[in-house]
Amino acid sequence: MKLIRTENYAEMSLEAGKIIVDKIRTNPSLTLGLATGSTPKGVYDYLIQDHEENGTTYKQVKSVNLDEYIGLSVEDPNSYHYFMNQTLFKHLDINDNQTHIPNGAASDLEQECLRYEQLIKELGGIDLQLLGIGQNGHIGFNEPGTPFTSTTHIVTLAQNTREANSRFFNSLDEVPTHAITMGIASILKSNEILLLVSGERKAEALYKFVNREISEEFPASALKYHSNVTVIADRDALKYI
Ligand code: F6R
Repeated sequence: MKLIRTENYAEMSLEAGKIIVDKIRTNPSLTLGLATGSTPKGVYDYLIQDHEENGTTYKQVKSVNLDEYIGLSVEDPNSYHYFMNQTLFKHLDINDNQTHIPNGAASDLEQECLRYEQLIKELGGIDLQLLGIGQNGHIGFNEPGTPFTSTTHIVTLAQNTREANSRFFNSLDEVPTHAITMGIASILKSNEILLLVSGERKAEALYKFVNREISEEFPASALKYHSNVTVIADRDALKYI
């Protein structure tokens, strides 16, 4: 595992952005694994700026997102479909039909999980997976206790995850209780993983990630089984390290 120490969120985003652009320029038909939430926003801003200023093209790039809430339509401003369109896709020349996010409004959710896992396989797997981390160590929406063998599946969101994400909703009641997420095994199959960690509220999770033993009670610890993980963290997140 490689650790890149940065001063702040902006520098973390810049470092991650440069790595991603470099990969796309080397392999223009890359399959990117993408995340939502606060952490990757700065990286997405960097990709958009680079696309506008340097013309990096996404015409052949494919993307698969980690997760989606169950029960929100794709137009719902809190859905991850909406987030990705507004925050990234609509600003790039990426093909709509090359971007993939689990469908949390599917009528048969079990079938949707199988379809999504198969889709990742058909794309030839993920070349580079971007990850954030939850305060409880979740990656994607794989909450503590998720088997490391899990593939795309339905999860019940942990109460502290719902509370953390309620900042995007009008109230905690509105935060969905379930989601579809790529599993830990799906994530570990990626060729390369970039884990971004920013801010003091993630400092404890980063400390546990670095120092604790591998355990299903701390999902991110599964990344230690992977041979090509780069962690990019800022000074506040590195407080205890
Ligand atoms: C998002 C995801 C989550 C987040 C994590 C951190 O697609 O899979 O694991 O990366 O909850 O969220 P933020 O970045 O909002 O702190």
